[in-house]
Amino acid sequence: MIRDERIPSDELRRIDEEIRSNWPTGEAVDFEEAIEYHESLPEHKRFADVLESADKPLLQPRAGVPRLDDQIELLRYLHQEGQADLLPTTIDSYTRDNEYEKAQQGLDKALETGDDTLNGFPAVNHGVDGCRELIDAIDAPIEVRHGTPDARLLAAITFAGGFQSFEGGPISYNIPYTKRHGLEETIEKWQFVDRLAGAYTERGVRINREPFGPLTGTLVPPSIAIAIMIVEGQLAATQGVRSITLGYGQVGNVVQDVAALNALKKLGNEYLPDEVVVTTVFHEWMGGFPPDEARANGVISLGGMTAAIAQPDKVITKSPQEFQGVPTKEANSAGLRTTRQVIDMAIEQKIDIDGIEEEQDLIERETRCLMDTIFEHGDGDVVQGTLKAFDSGALDVPFAPSDSAAGAVLPARDDDGRVRIFEWADLEMDEDIKEIHKARLSQRADTEGRDQSFRMVADDVDAISDGKLIGRPQGDV
Ligand code: 5AD
Repeated sequence: MIRDERIPSDELRRIDEEIRSNWPTGEAVDFEEAIEYHESLPEHKRFADVLESADKPLLQPRAGVPRLDDQIELLRYLHQEGQADLLPTTIDSYTRDNEYEKAQQGLDKALETGDDTLNGFPAVNHGVDGCRELIDAIDAPIEVRHGTPDARLLAAITFAGGFQSFEGGPISYNIPYTKRHGLEETIEKWQFVDRLAGAYTERGVRINREPFGPLTGTLVPPSIAIAIMIVEGQLAATQGVRSITLGYGQVGNVVQDVAALNALKKLGNEYLPDEVVVTTVFHEWMGGFPPDEARANGVISLGGMTAAIAQPDKVITKSPQEFQGVPTKEANSAGLRTTRQVIDMAIEQKIDIDGIEEEQDLIERETRCLMDTIFEHGDGDVVQGTLKAFDSGALDVPFAPSDSAAGAVLPARDDDGRVRIFEWADLEMDEDIKEIHKARLSQRADTEGRDQSFRMVADDVDAISDGKLIGRPQGDV
């Protein structure tokens, strides 16, 4: 039975050898030599140190193209023109599915035609040397960003390749991303990823780990996201990770977003062991964007304003071209510059908003209910607790494509746009908290002169891309 226990070093070595033998580039990984390479990197490329020592939110975009020289050019552009503080390397979808053969075909085609035939950078195919060429060429820390349920080979190669930050986690890269992998399986695979990060950490090379906070990106109630962040942080800490960045995706209500970021930081520090340095990352809106670039800039700006008030350690920016998918480098850089302008104008202002403390208190109580039920489900073991709580529906994520989550819980916005829970299904929560949500939603129903129904949920999902926050009935009802 899989438990929240540290993988012994002989087992780490055995799995490492096994997964590296799955693809030819795995052979070039040499742990001792990789430690030396990391030690040779200048301070300003050390991800955890740069992030943890910053005195205002650092900005980071998403970006990945198949060819190495193009990736270098893209990241240089985002660093210089976009003034990104931290850079990403977004991995392509074939690699995320462990389809290295198909990634190779895409890469070959890209080299032949010059087209972007993959939607990201196939780091496994570029191998240790290709990754190091990128790390050497860029004068800032770079993180691997992906969405890979089984990221073991990707981690082995990118860590040896000089990357010092790695996004994802067993729940956050399972529930929103895959139907194919069970939760027990992804937990086991991510224990290896975290243990490998822990092995580097033990040798003085701190690899930053960043669970993916936005989950399904669609109206996720803050407490559900925060509980999952804490669990993934705990699992990583057990394996020896010491730099953890907990994530949260903007819902668009400023009070709720600031309250959630405050709660994330507070509970992260409280629940994770003292030896872990906890930082936070705020994702600009991950749901559907307006097709109109001017309106998209409005969504991005509200994210910047929220970040200026809550001051997370990092902000993942969006581009005004979000609606159409992977942005041009110009649009990507524009999203960074818009965010920076708003943050820099707002960050020194003293802004007191009514209701943040009360909302934060509610989010904290909800999160504690979820954490308690996880511990109880697992008799104190967080791995078993997570598996059993998802199984029973006591822990759930709205709109989850994965079979590992019931996906039965449904959110809806209340009368001032905060995300509440409309359908609880089997989600564990104190009755008095449920009553608060119910009262808030019934207030909205009154305002709109309609019953609470799934219609509200569906209207809310489209609201921001339609130019509003709350999906109110339009015109004559
Ligand atoms: N480059 C830039 N952004 C990307 N995204 C996905 N792949 C890339 C890429 N290669 C972004 C999407 C969306 C988020 C989930 O990731 O545009 O904003």
